[in-house]
Amino acid sequence: MLGSTLSEAISLKSLSERNLSDLLEPVAAELPRVEMALASQVRSFDPRLGDYVQYILGGTGKRLRPSLALLAGGATGGIREEHITLAVIVELIHVATLVHDDVLDEAELRHRIPTSNSRWGNEISVLLGDCLFAYALRLAAGYPTTDVCRRVSEATNTVVSGEIVQTQRRFDLDLTLNQYLDIINMKTGALFAVSCELGAVLNDAPPSVVKSMYEYGANLGIAYQIYDDCLDIFGQERQAGKSLGTDVKKGKLTLPFLLLLQHVDFDSRQELGAMILRNNDGQEQQRLLRLVLGNGVVGESLAAIDKYIGRARANLSALPANIYGSTLGSLTEYLSGQSRSLLREAVAA
Ligand code: FPP
Ligand code: MG
Repeated sequence: MLGSTLSEAISLKSLSERNLSDLLEPVAAELPRVEMALASQVRSFDPRLGDYVQYILGGTGKRLRPSLALLAGGATGGIREEHITLAVIVELIHVATLVHDDVLDEAELRHRIPTSNSRWGNEISVLLGDCLFAYALRLAAGYPTTDVCRRVSEATNTVVSGEIVQTQRRFDLDLTLNQYLDIINMKTGALFAVSCELGAVLNDAPPSVVKSMYEYGANLGIAYQIYDDCLDIFGQERQAGKSLGTDVKKGKLTLPFLLLLQHVDFDSRQELGAMILRNNDGQEQQRLLRLVLGNGVVGESLAAIDKYIGRARANLSALPANIYGSTLGSLTEYLSGQSRSLLREAVAA
């Protein structure tokens, strides 16, 4: 599945290392409306929760899912008020999942600030995530069609199911690449996909276009999660602004480690497995990193990202040509550029 060599992979200059906000220029007028709508939601929570909600919603998240909802709207007929609400809904759900995720990962930093769990503890954080999710469903129930509420509920169910399967398979050295891809499709692909799909549904786009939008989102989400899993291994916390290294610490076997496990001989595999299972010593983590860097895994991880980026690009061919559709294309280039810089830096370090 993964063809490119490392040298080929890192010599390919990214088509775009542009700043994300430049790239999102076509929705520059709508994104502040999403921010304003999010801020006004904060005011409608119980005043005793206001500070928590403001803190977790006011961070410096990339607002990627809202951007997808808006761009999908623009690409399929125009961005209307309903798309702004959709953008708010998918961001609320996303933030809720991150608050829970940071509890599970015992992460301390997110968006360059302390996580909710490190500020207020797990109890408040779990309940806060629930509260945001319930609020998102309430907004989704406000549409004249039940489609939005049904689809975001289904997508969230898939996200949580993916997290449960991932938790069941922690420290499981027999996890296959396909099982890993299935997990990340569920935990990340589902929310990306529904953001794009509903952007088209709200414009009554033809079923083939709705399907292409859904698939674009799912493929972009898978590519993004592989990148994020590489970031967890190769990235720098200072640059990423969030806790890294939590995957292997929690026994989540992500693509680079799964590829490494496939490459080594039986004895090394056993030893590697034991290292991953022990995983509490900084020196051993450095050794693991050197092994990942020294076994062709970086190039193969990049090839896997490219594979899903390629699929996402192909999904766009069903769209009428306009600036929003081409921005969805630029987002794939942006992710490709980010992945290349991350892995180039990891190899050079
Ligand atoms: C990021 O994973 C996490 C997700 C994509 C989904 C997490 C979802 C849950 C914990 C379920 C929450 C449920 C509800 C209803 C709110 P990651 O740890 O790989 O990413 P990271 O590096 O950004 O932490
Ligand atoms: Mg996490």
